[in-house]
Amino acid sequence: MAKLKLPVPPVPPQLKPLPKRPGKVYGPQTPIEHAGEAAATAVGWIDERTSLSGGARWMMFRKVPKGTNWFYTLGSATMFSFLSQAVTGVFLAMYYVPSSTRAYESIRTINNDVFLGEFVHGMHKWGSSMMVILIFLHMGRTFFFGAYKYPRELNWVIGVALLILTMTMSFTGYLLPFDQRSYWASIVGVNINGTGPLVGPYLSDFLRAGPNFGATTLSRFYAIHMLLVPGAIAALMGFHLFLVARLGTTAPPWVRAKSSEQLREEKVSS
Ligand code: HEM
Repeated sequence: MAKLKLPVPPVPPQLKPLPKRPGKVYGPQTPIEHAGEAAATAVGWIDERTSLSGGARWMMFRKVPKGTNWFYTLGSATMFSFLSQAVTGVFLAMYYVPSSTRAYESIRTINNDVFLGEFVHGMHKWGSSMMVILIFLHMGRTFFFGAYKYPRELNWVIGVALLILTMTMSFTGYLLPFDQRSYWASIVGVNINGTGPLVGPYLSDFLRAGPNFGATTLSRFYAIHMLLVPGAIAALMGFHLFLVARLGTTAPPWVRAKSSEQLREEKVSS
């Protein structure tokens, strides 16, 4: 099988310096231009020692298929909603107390006393629904455009794992305010997990952190919600994006390929 190694794209013309014109003064003049020059020097210093710009160009400056449209932004939108959840989550974690006696009170403090607390809490709460909606829309786009087919099957499978992890985030986050609604809804959710074949009872035991639903359950949900699952999502997202850059995106189904499927497969395997 031929090696599918894509070359690093050349520096785009927009980023290349323009040729000098006689009679024009070059170099930074205003303080803002000096600041820009200093930033460019710092970036250049890092790049000379790491060669990271080649990787960044490889990731960002790519040719996309004809017919690429707004539906292709749904994956990035999902990623940005995750990043927003991560940032707002860090600020909430500074005030939230994962204790069965103090969790509810700490959420009230965030909403009523902390500067911009209600706003950040609201962003996190509504952002979670946003992420779930966006991930389903993105999955629908890849499904209807046939992007799950060869050679992108693995990226679909990683996507399924990301979907399960995103749902786990929603489920574990729901208990954290520890009010009546979240408490009883989480008991129902854990019991539903317990009805699963074979692993069900073990899964519900793991989620409850013991035979009874209580203080230990809250700590367990909190650890899963803010450490285990976001870490796994970040890692899988990185791999998902690597494969997108490696394989490129799929053309929309209405853009017809010039060569036949068979011919293309022969080319790849020769
Ligand atoms: C945290 C969740 C996810 C993030 C951040 C994410 C991000 C992305 C991004 C940025 C792309 C590039 C093209 C585009 O945006 O359409 C992409 C492509 C893709 N994603 Fe996702 N994705 C996620 C979840 C999923 C899920 C749930 C599935 C399916 C089960 C999936 C399957 C795919 C496939 C097959 C492609 C290749 C599309 C193509 O070749 O045109 N992704 N993803």
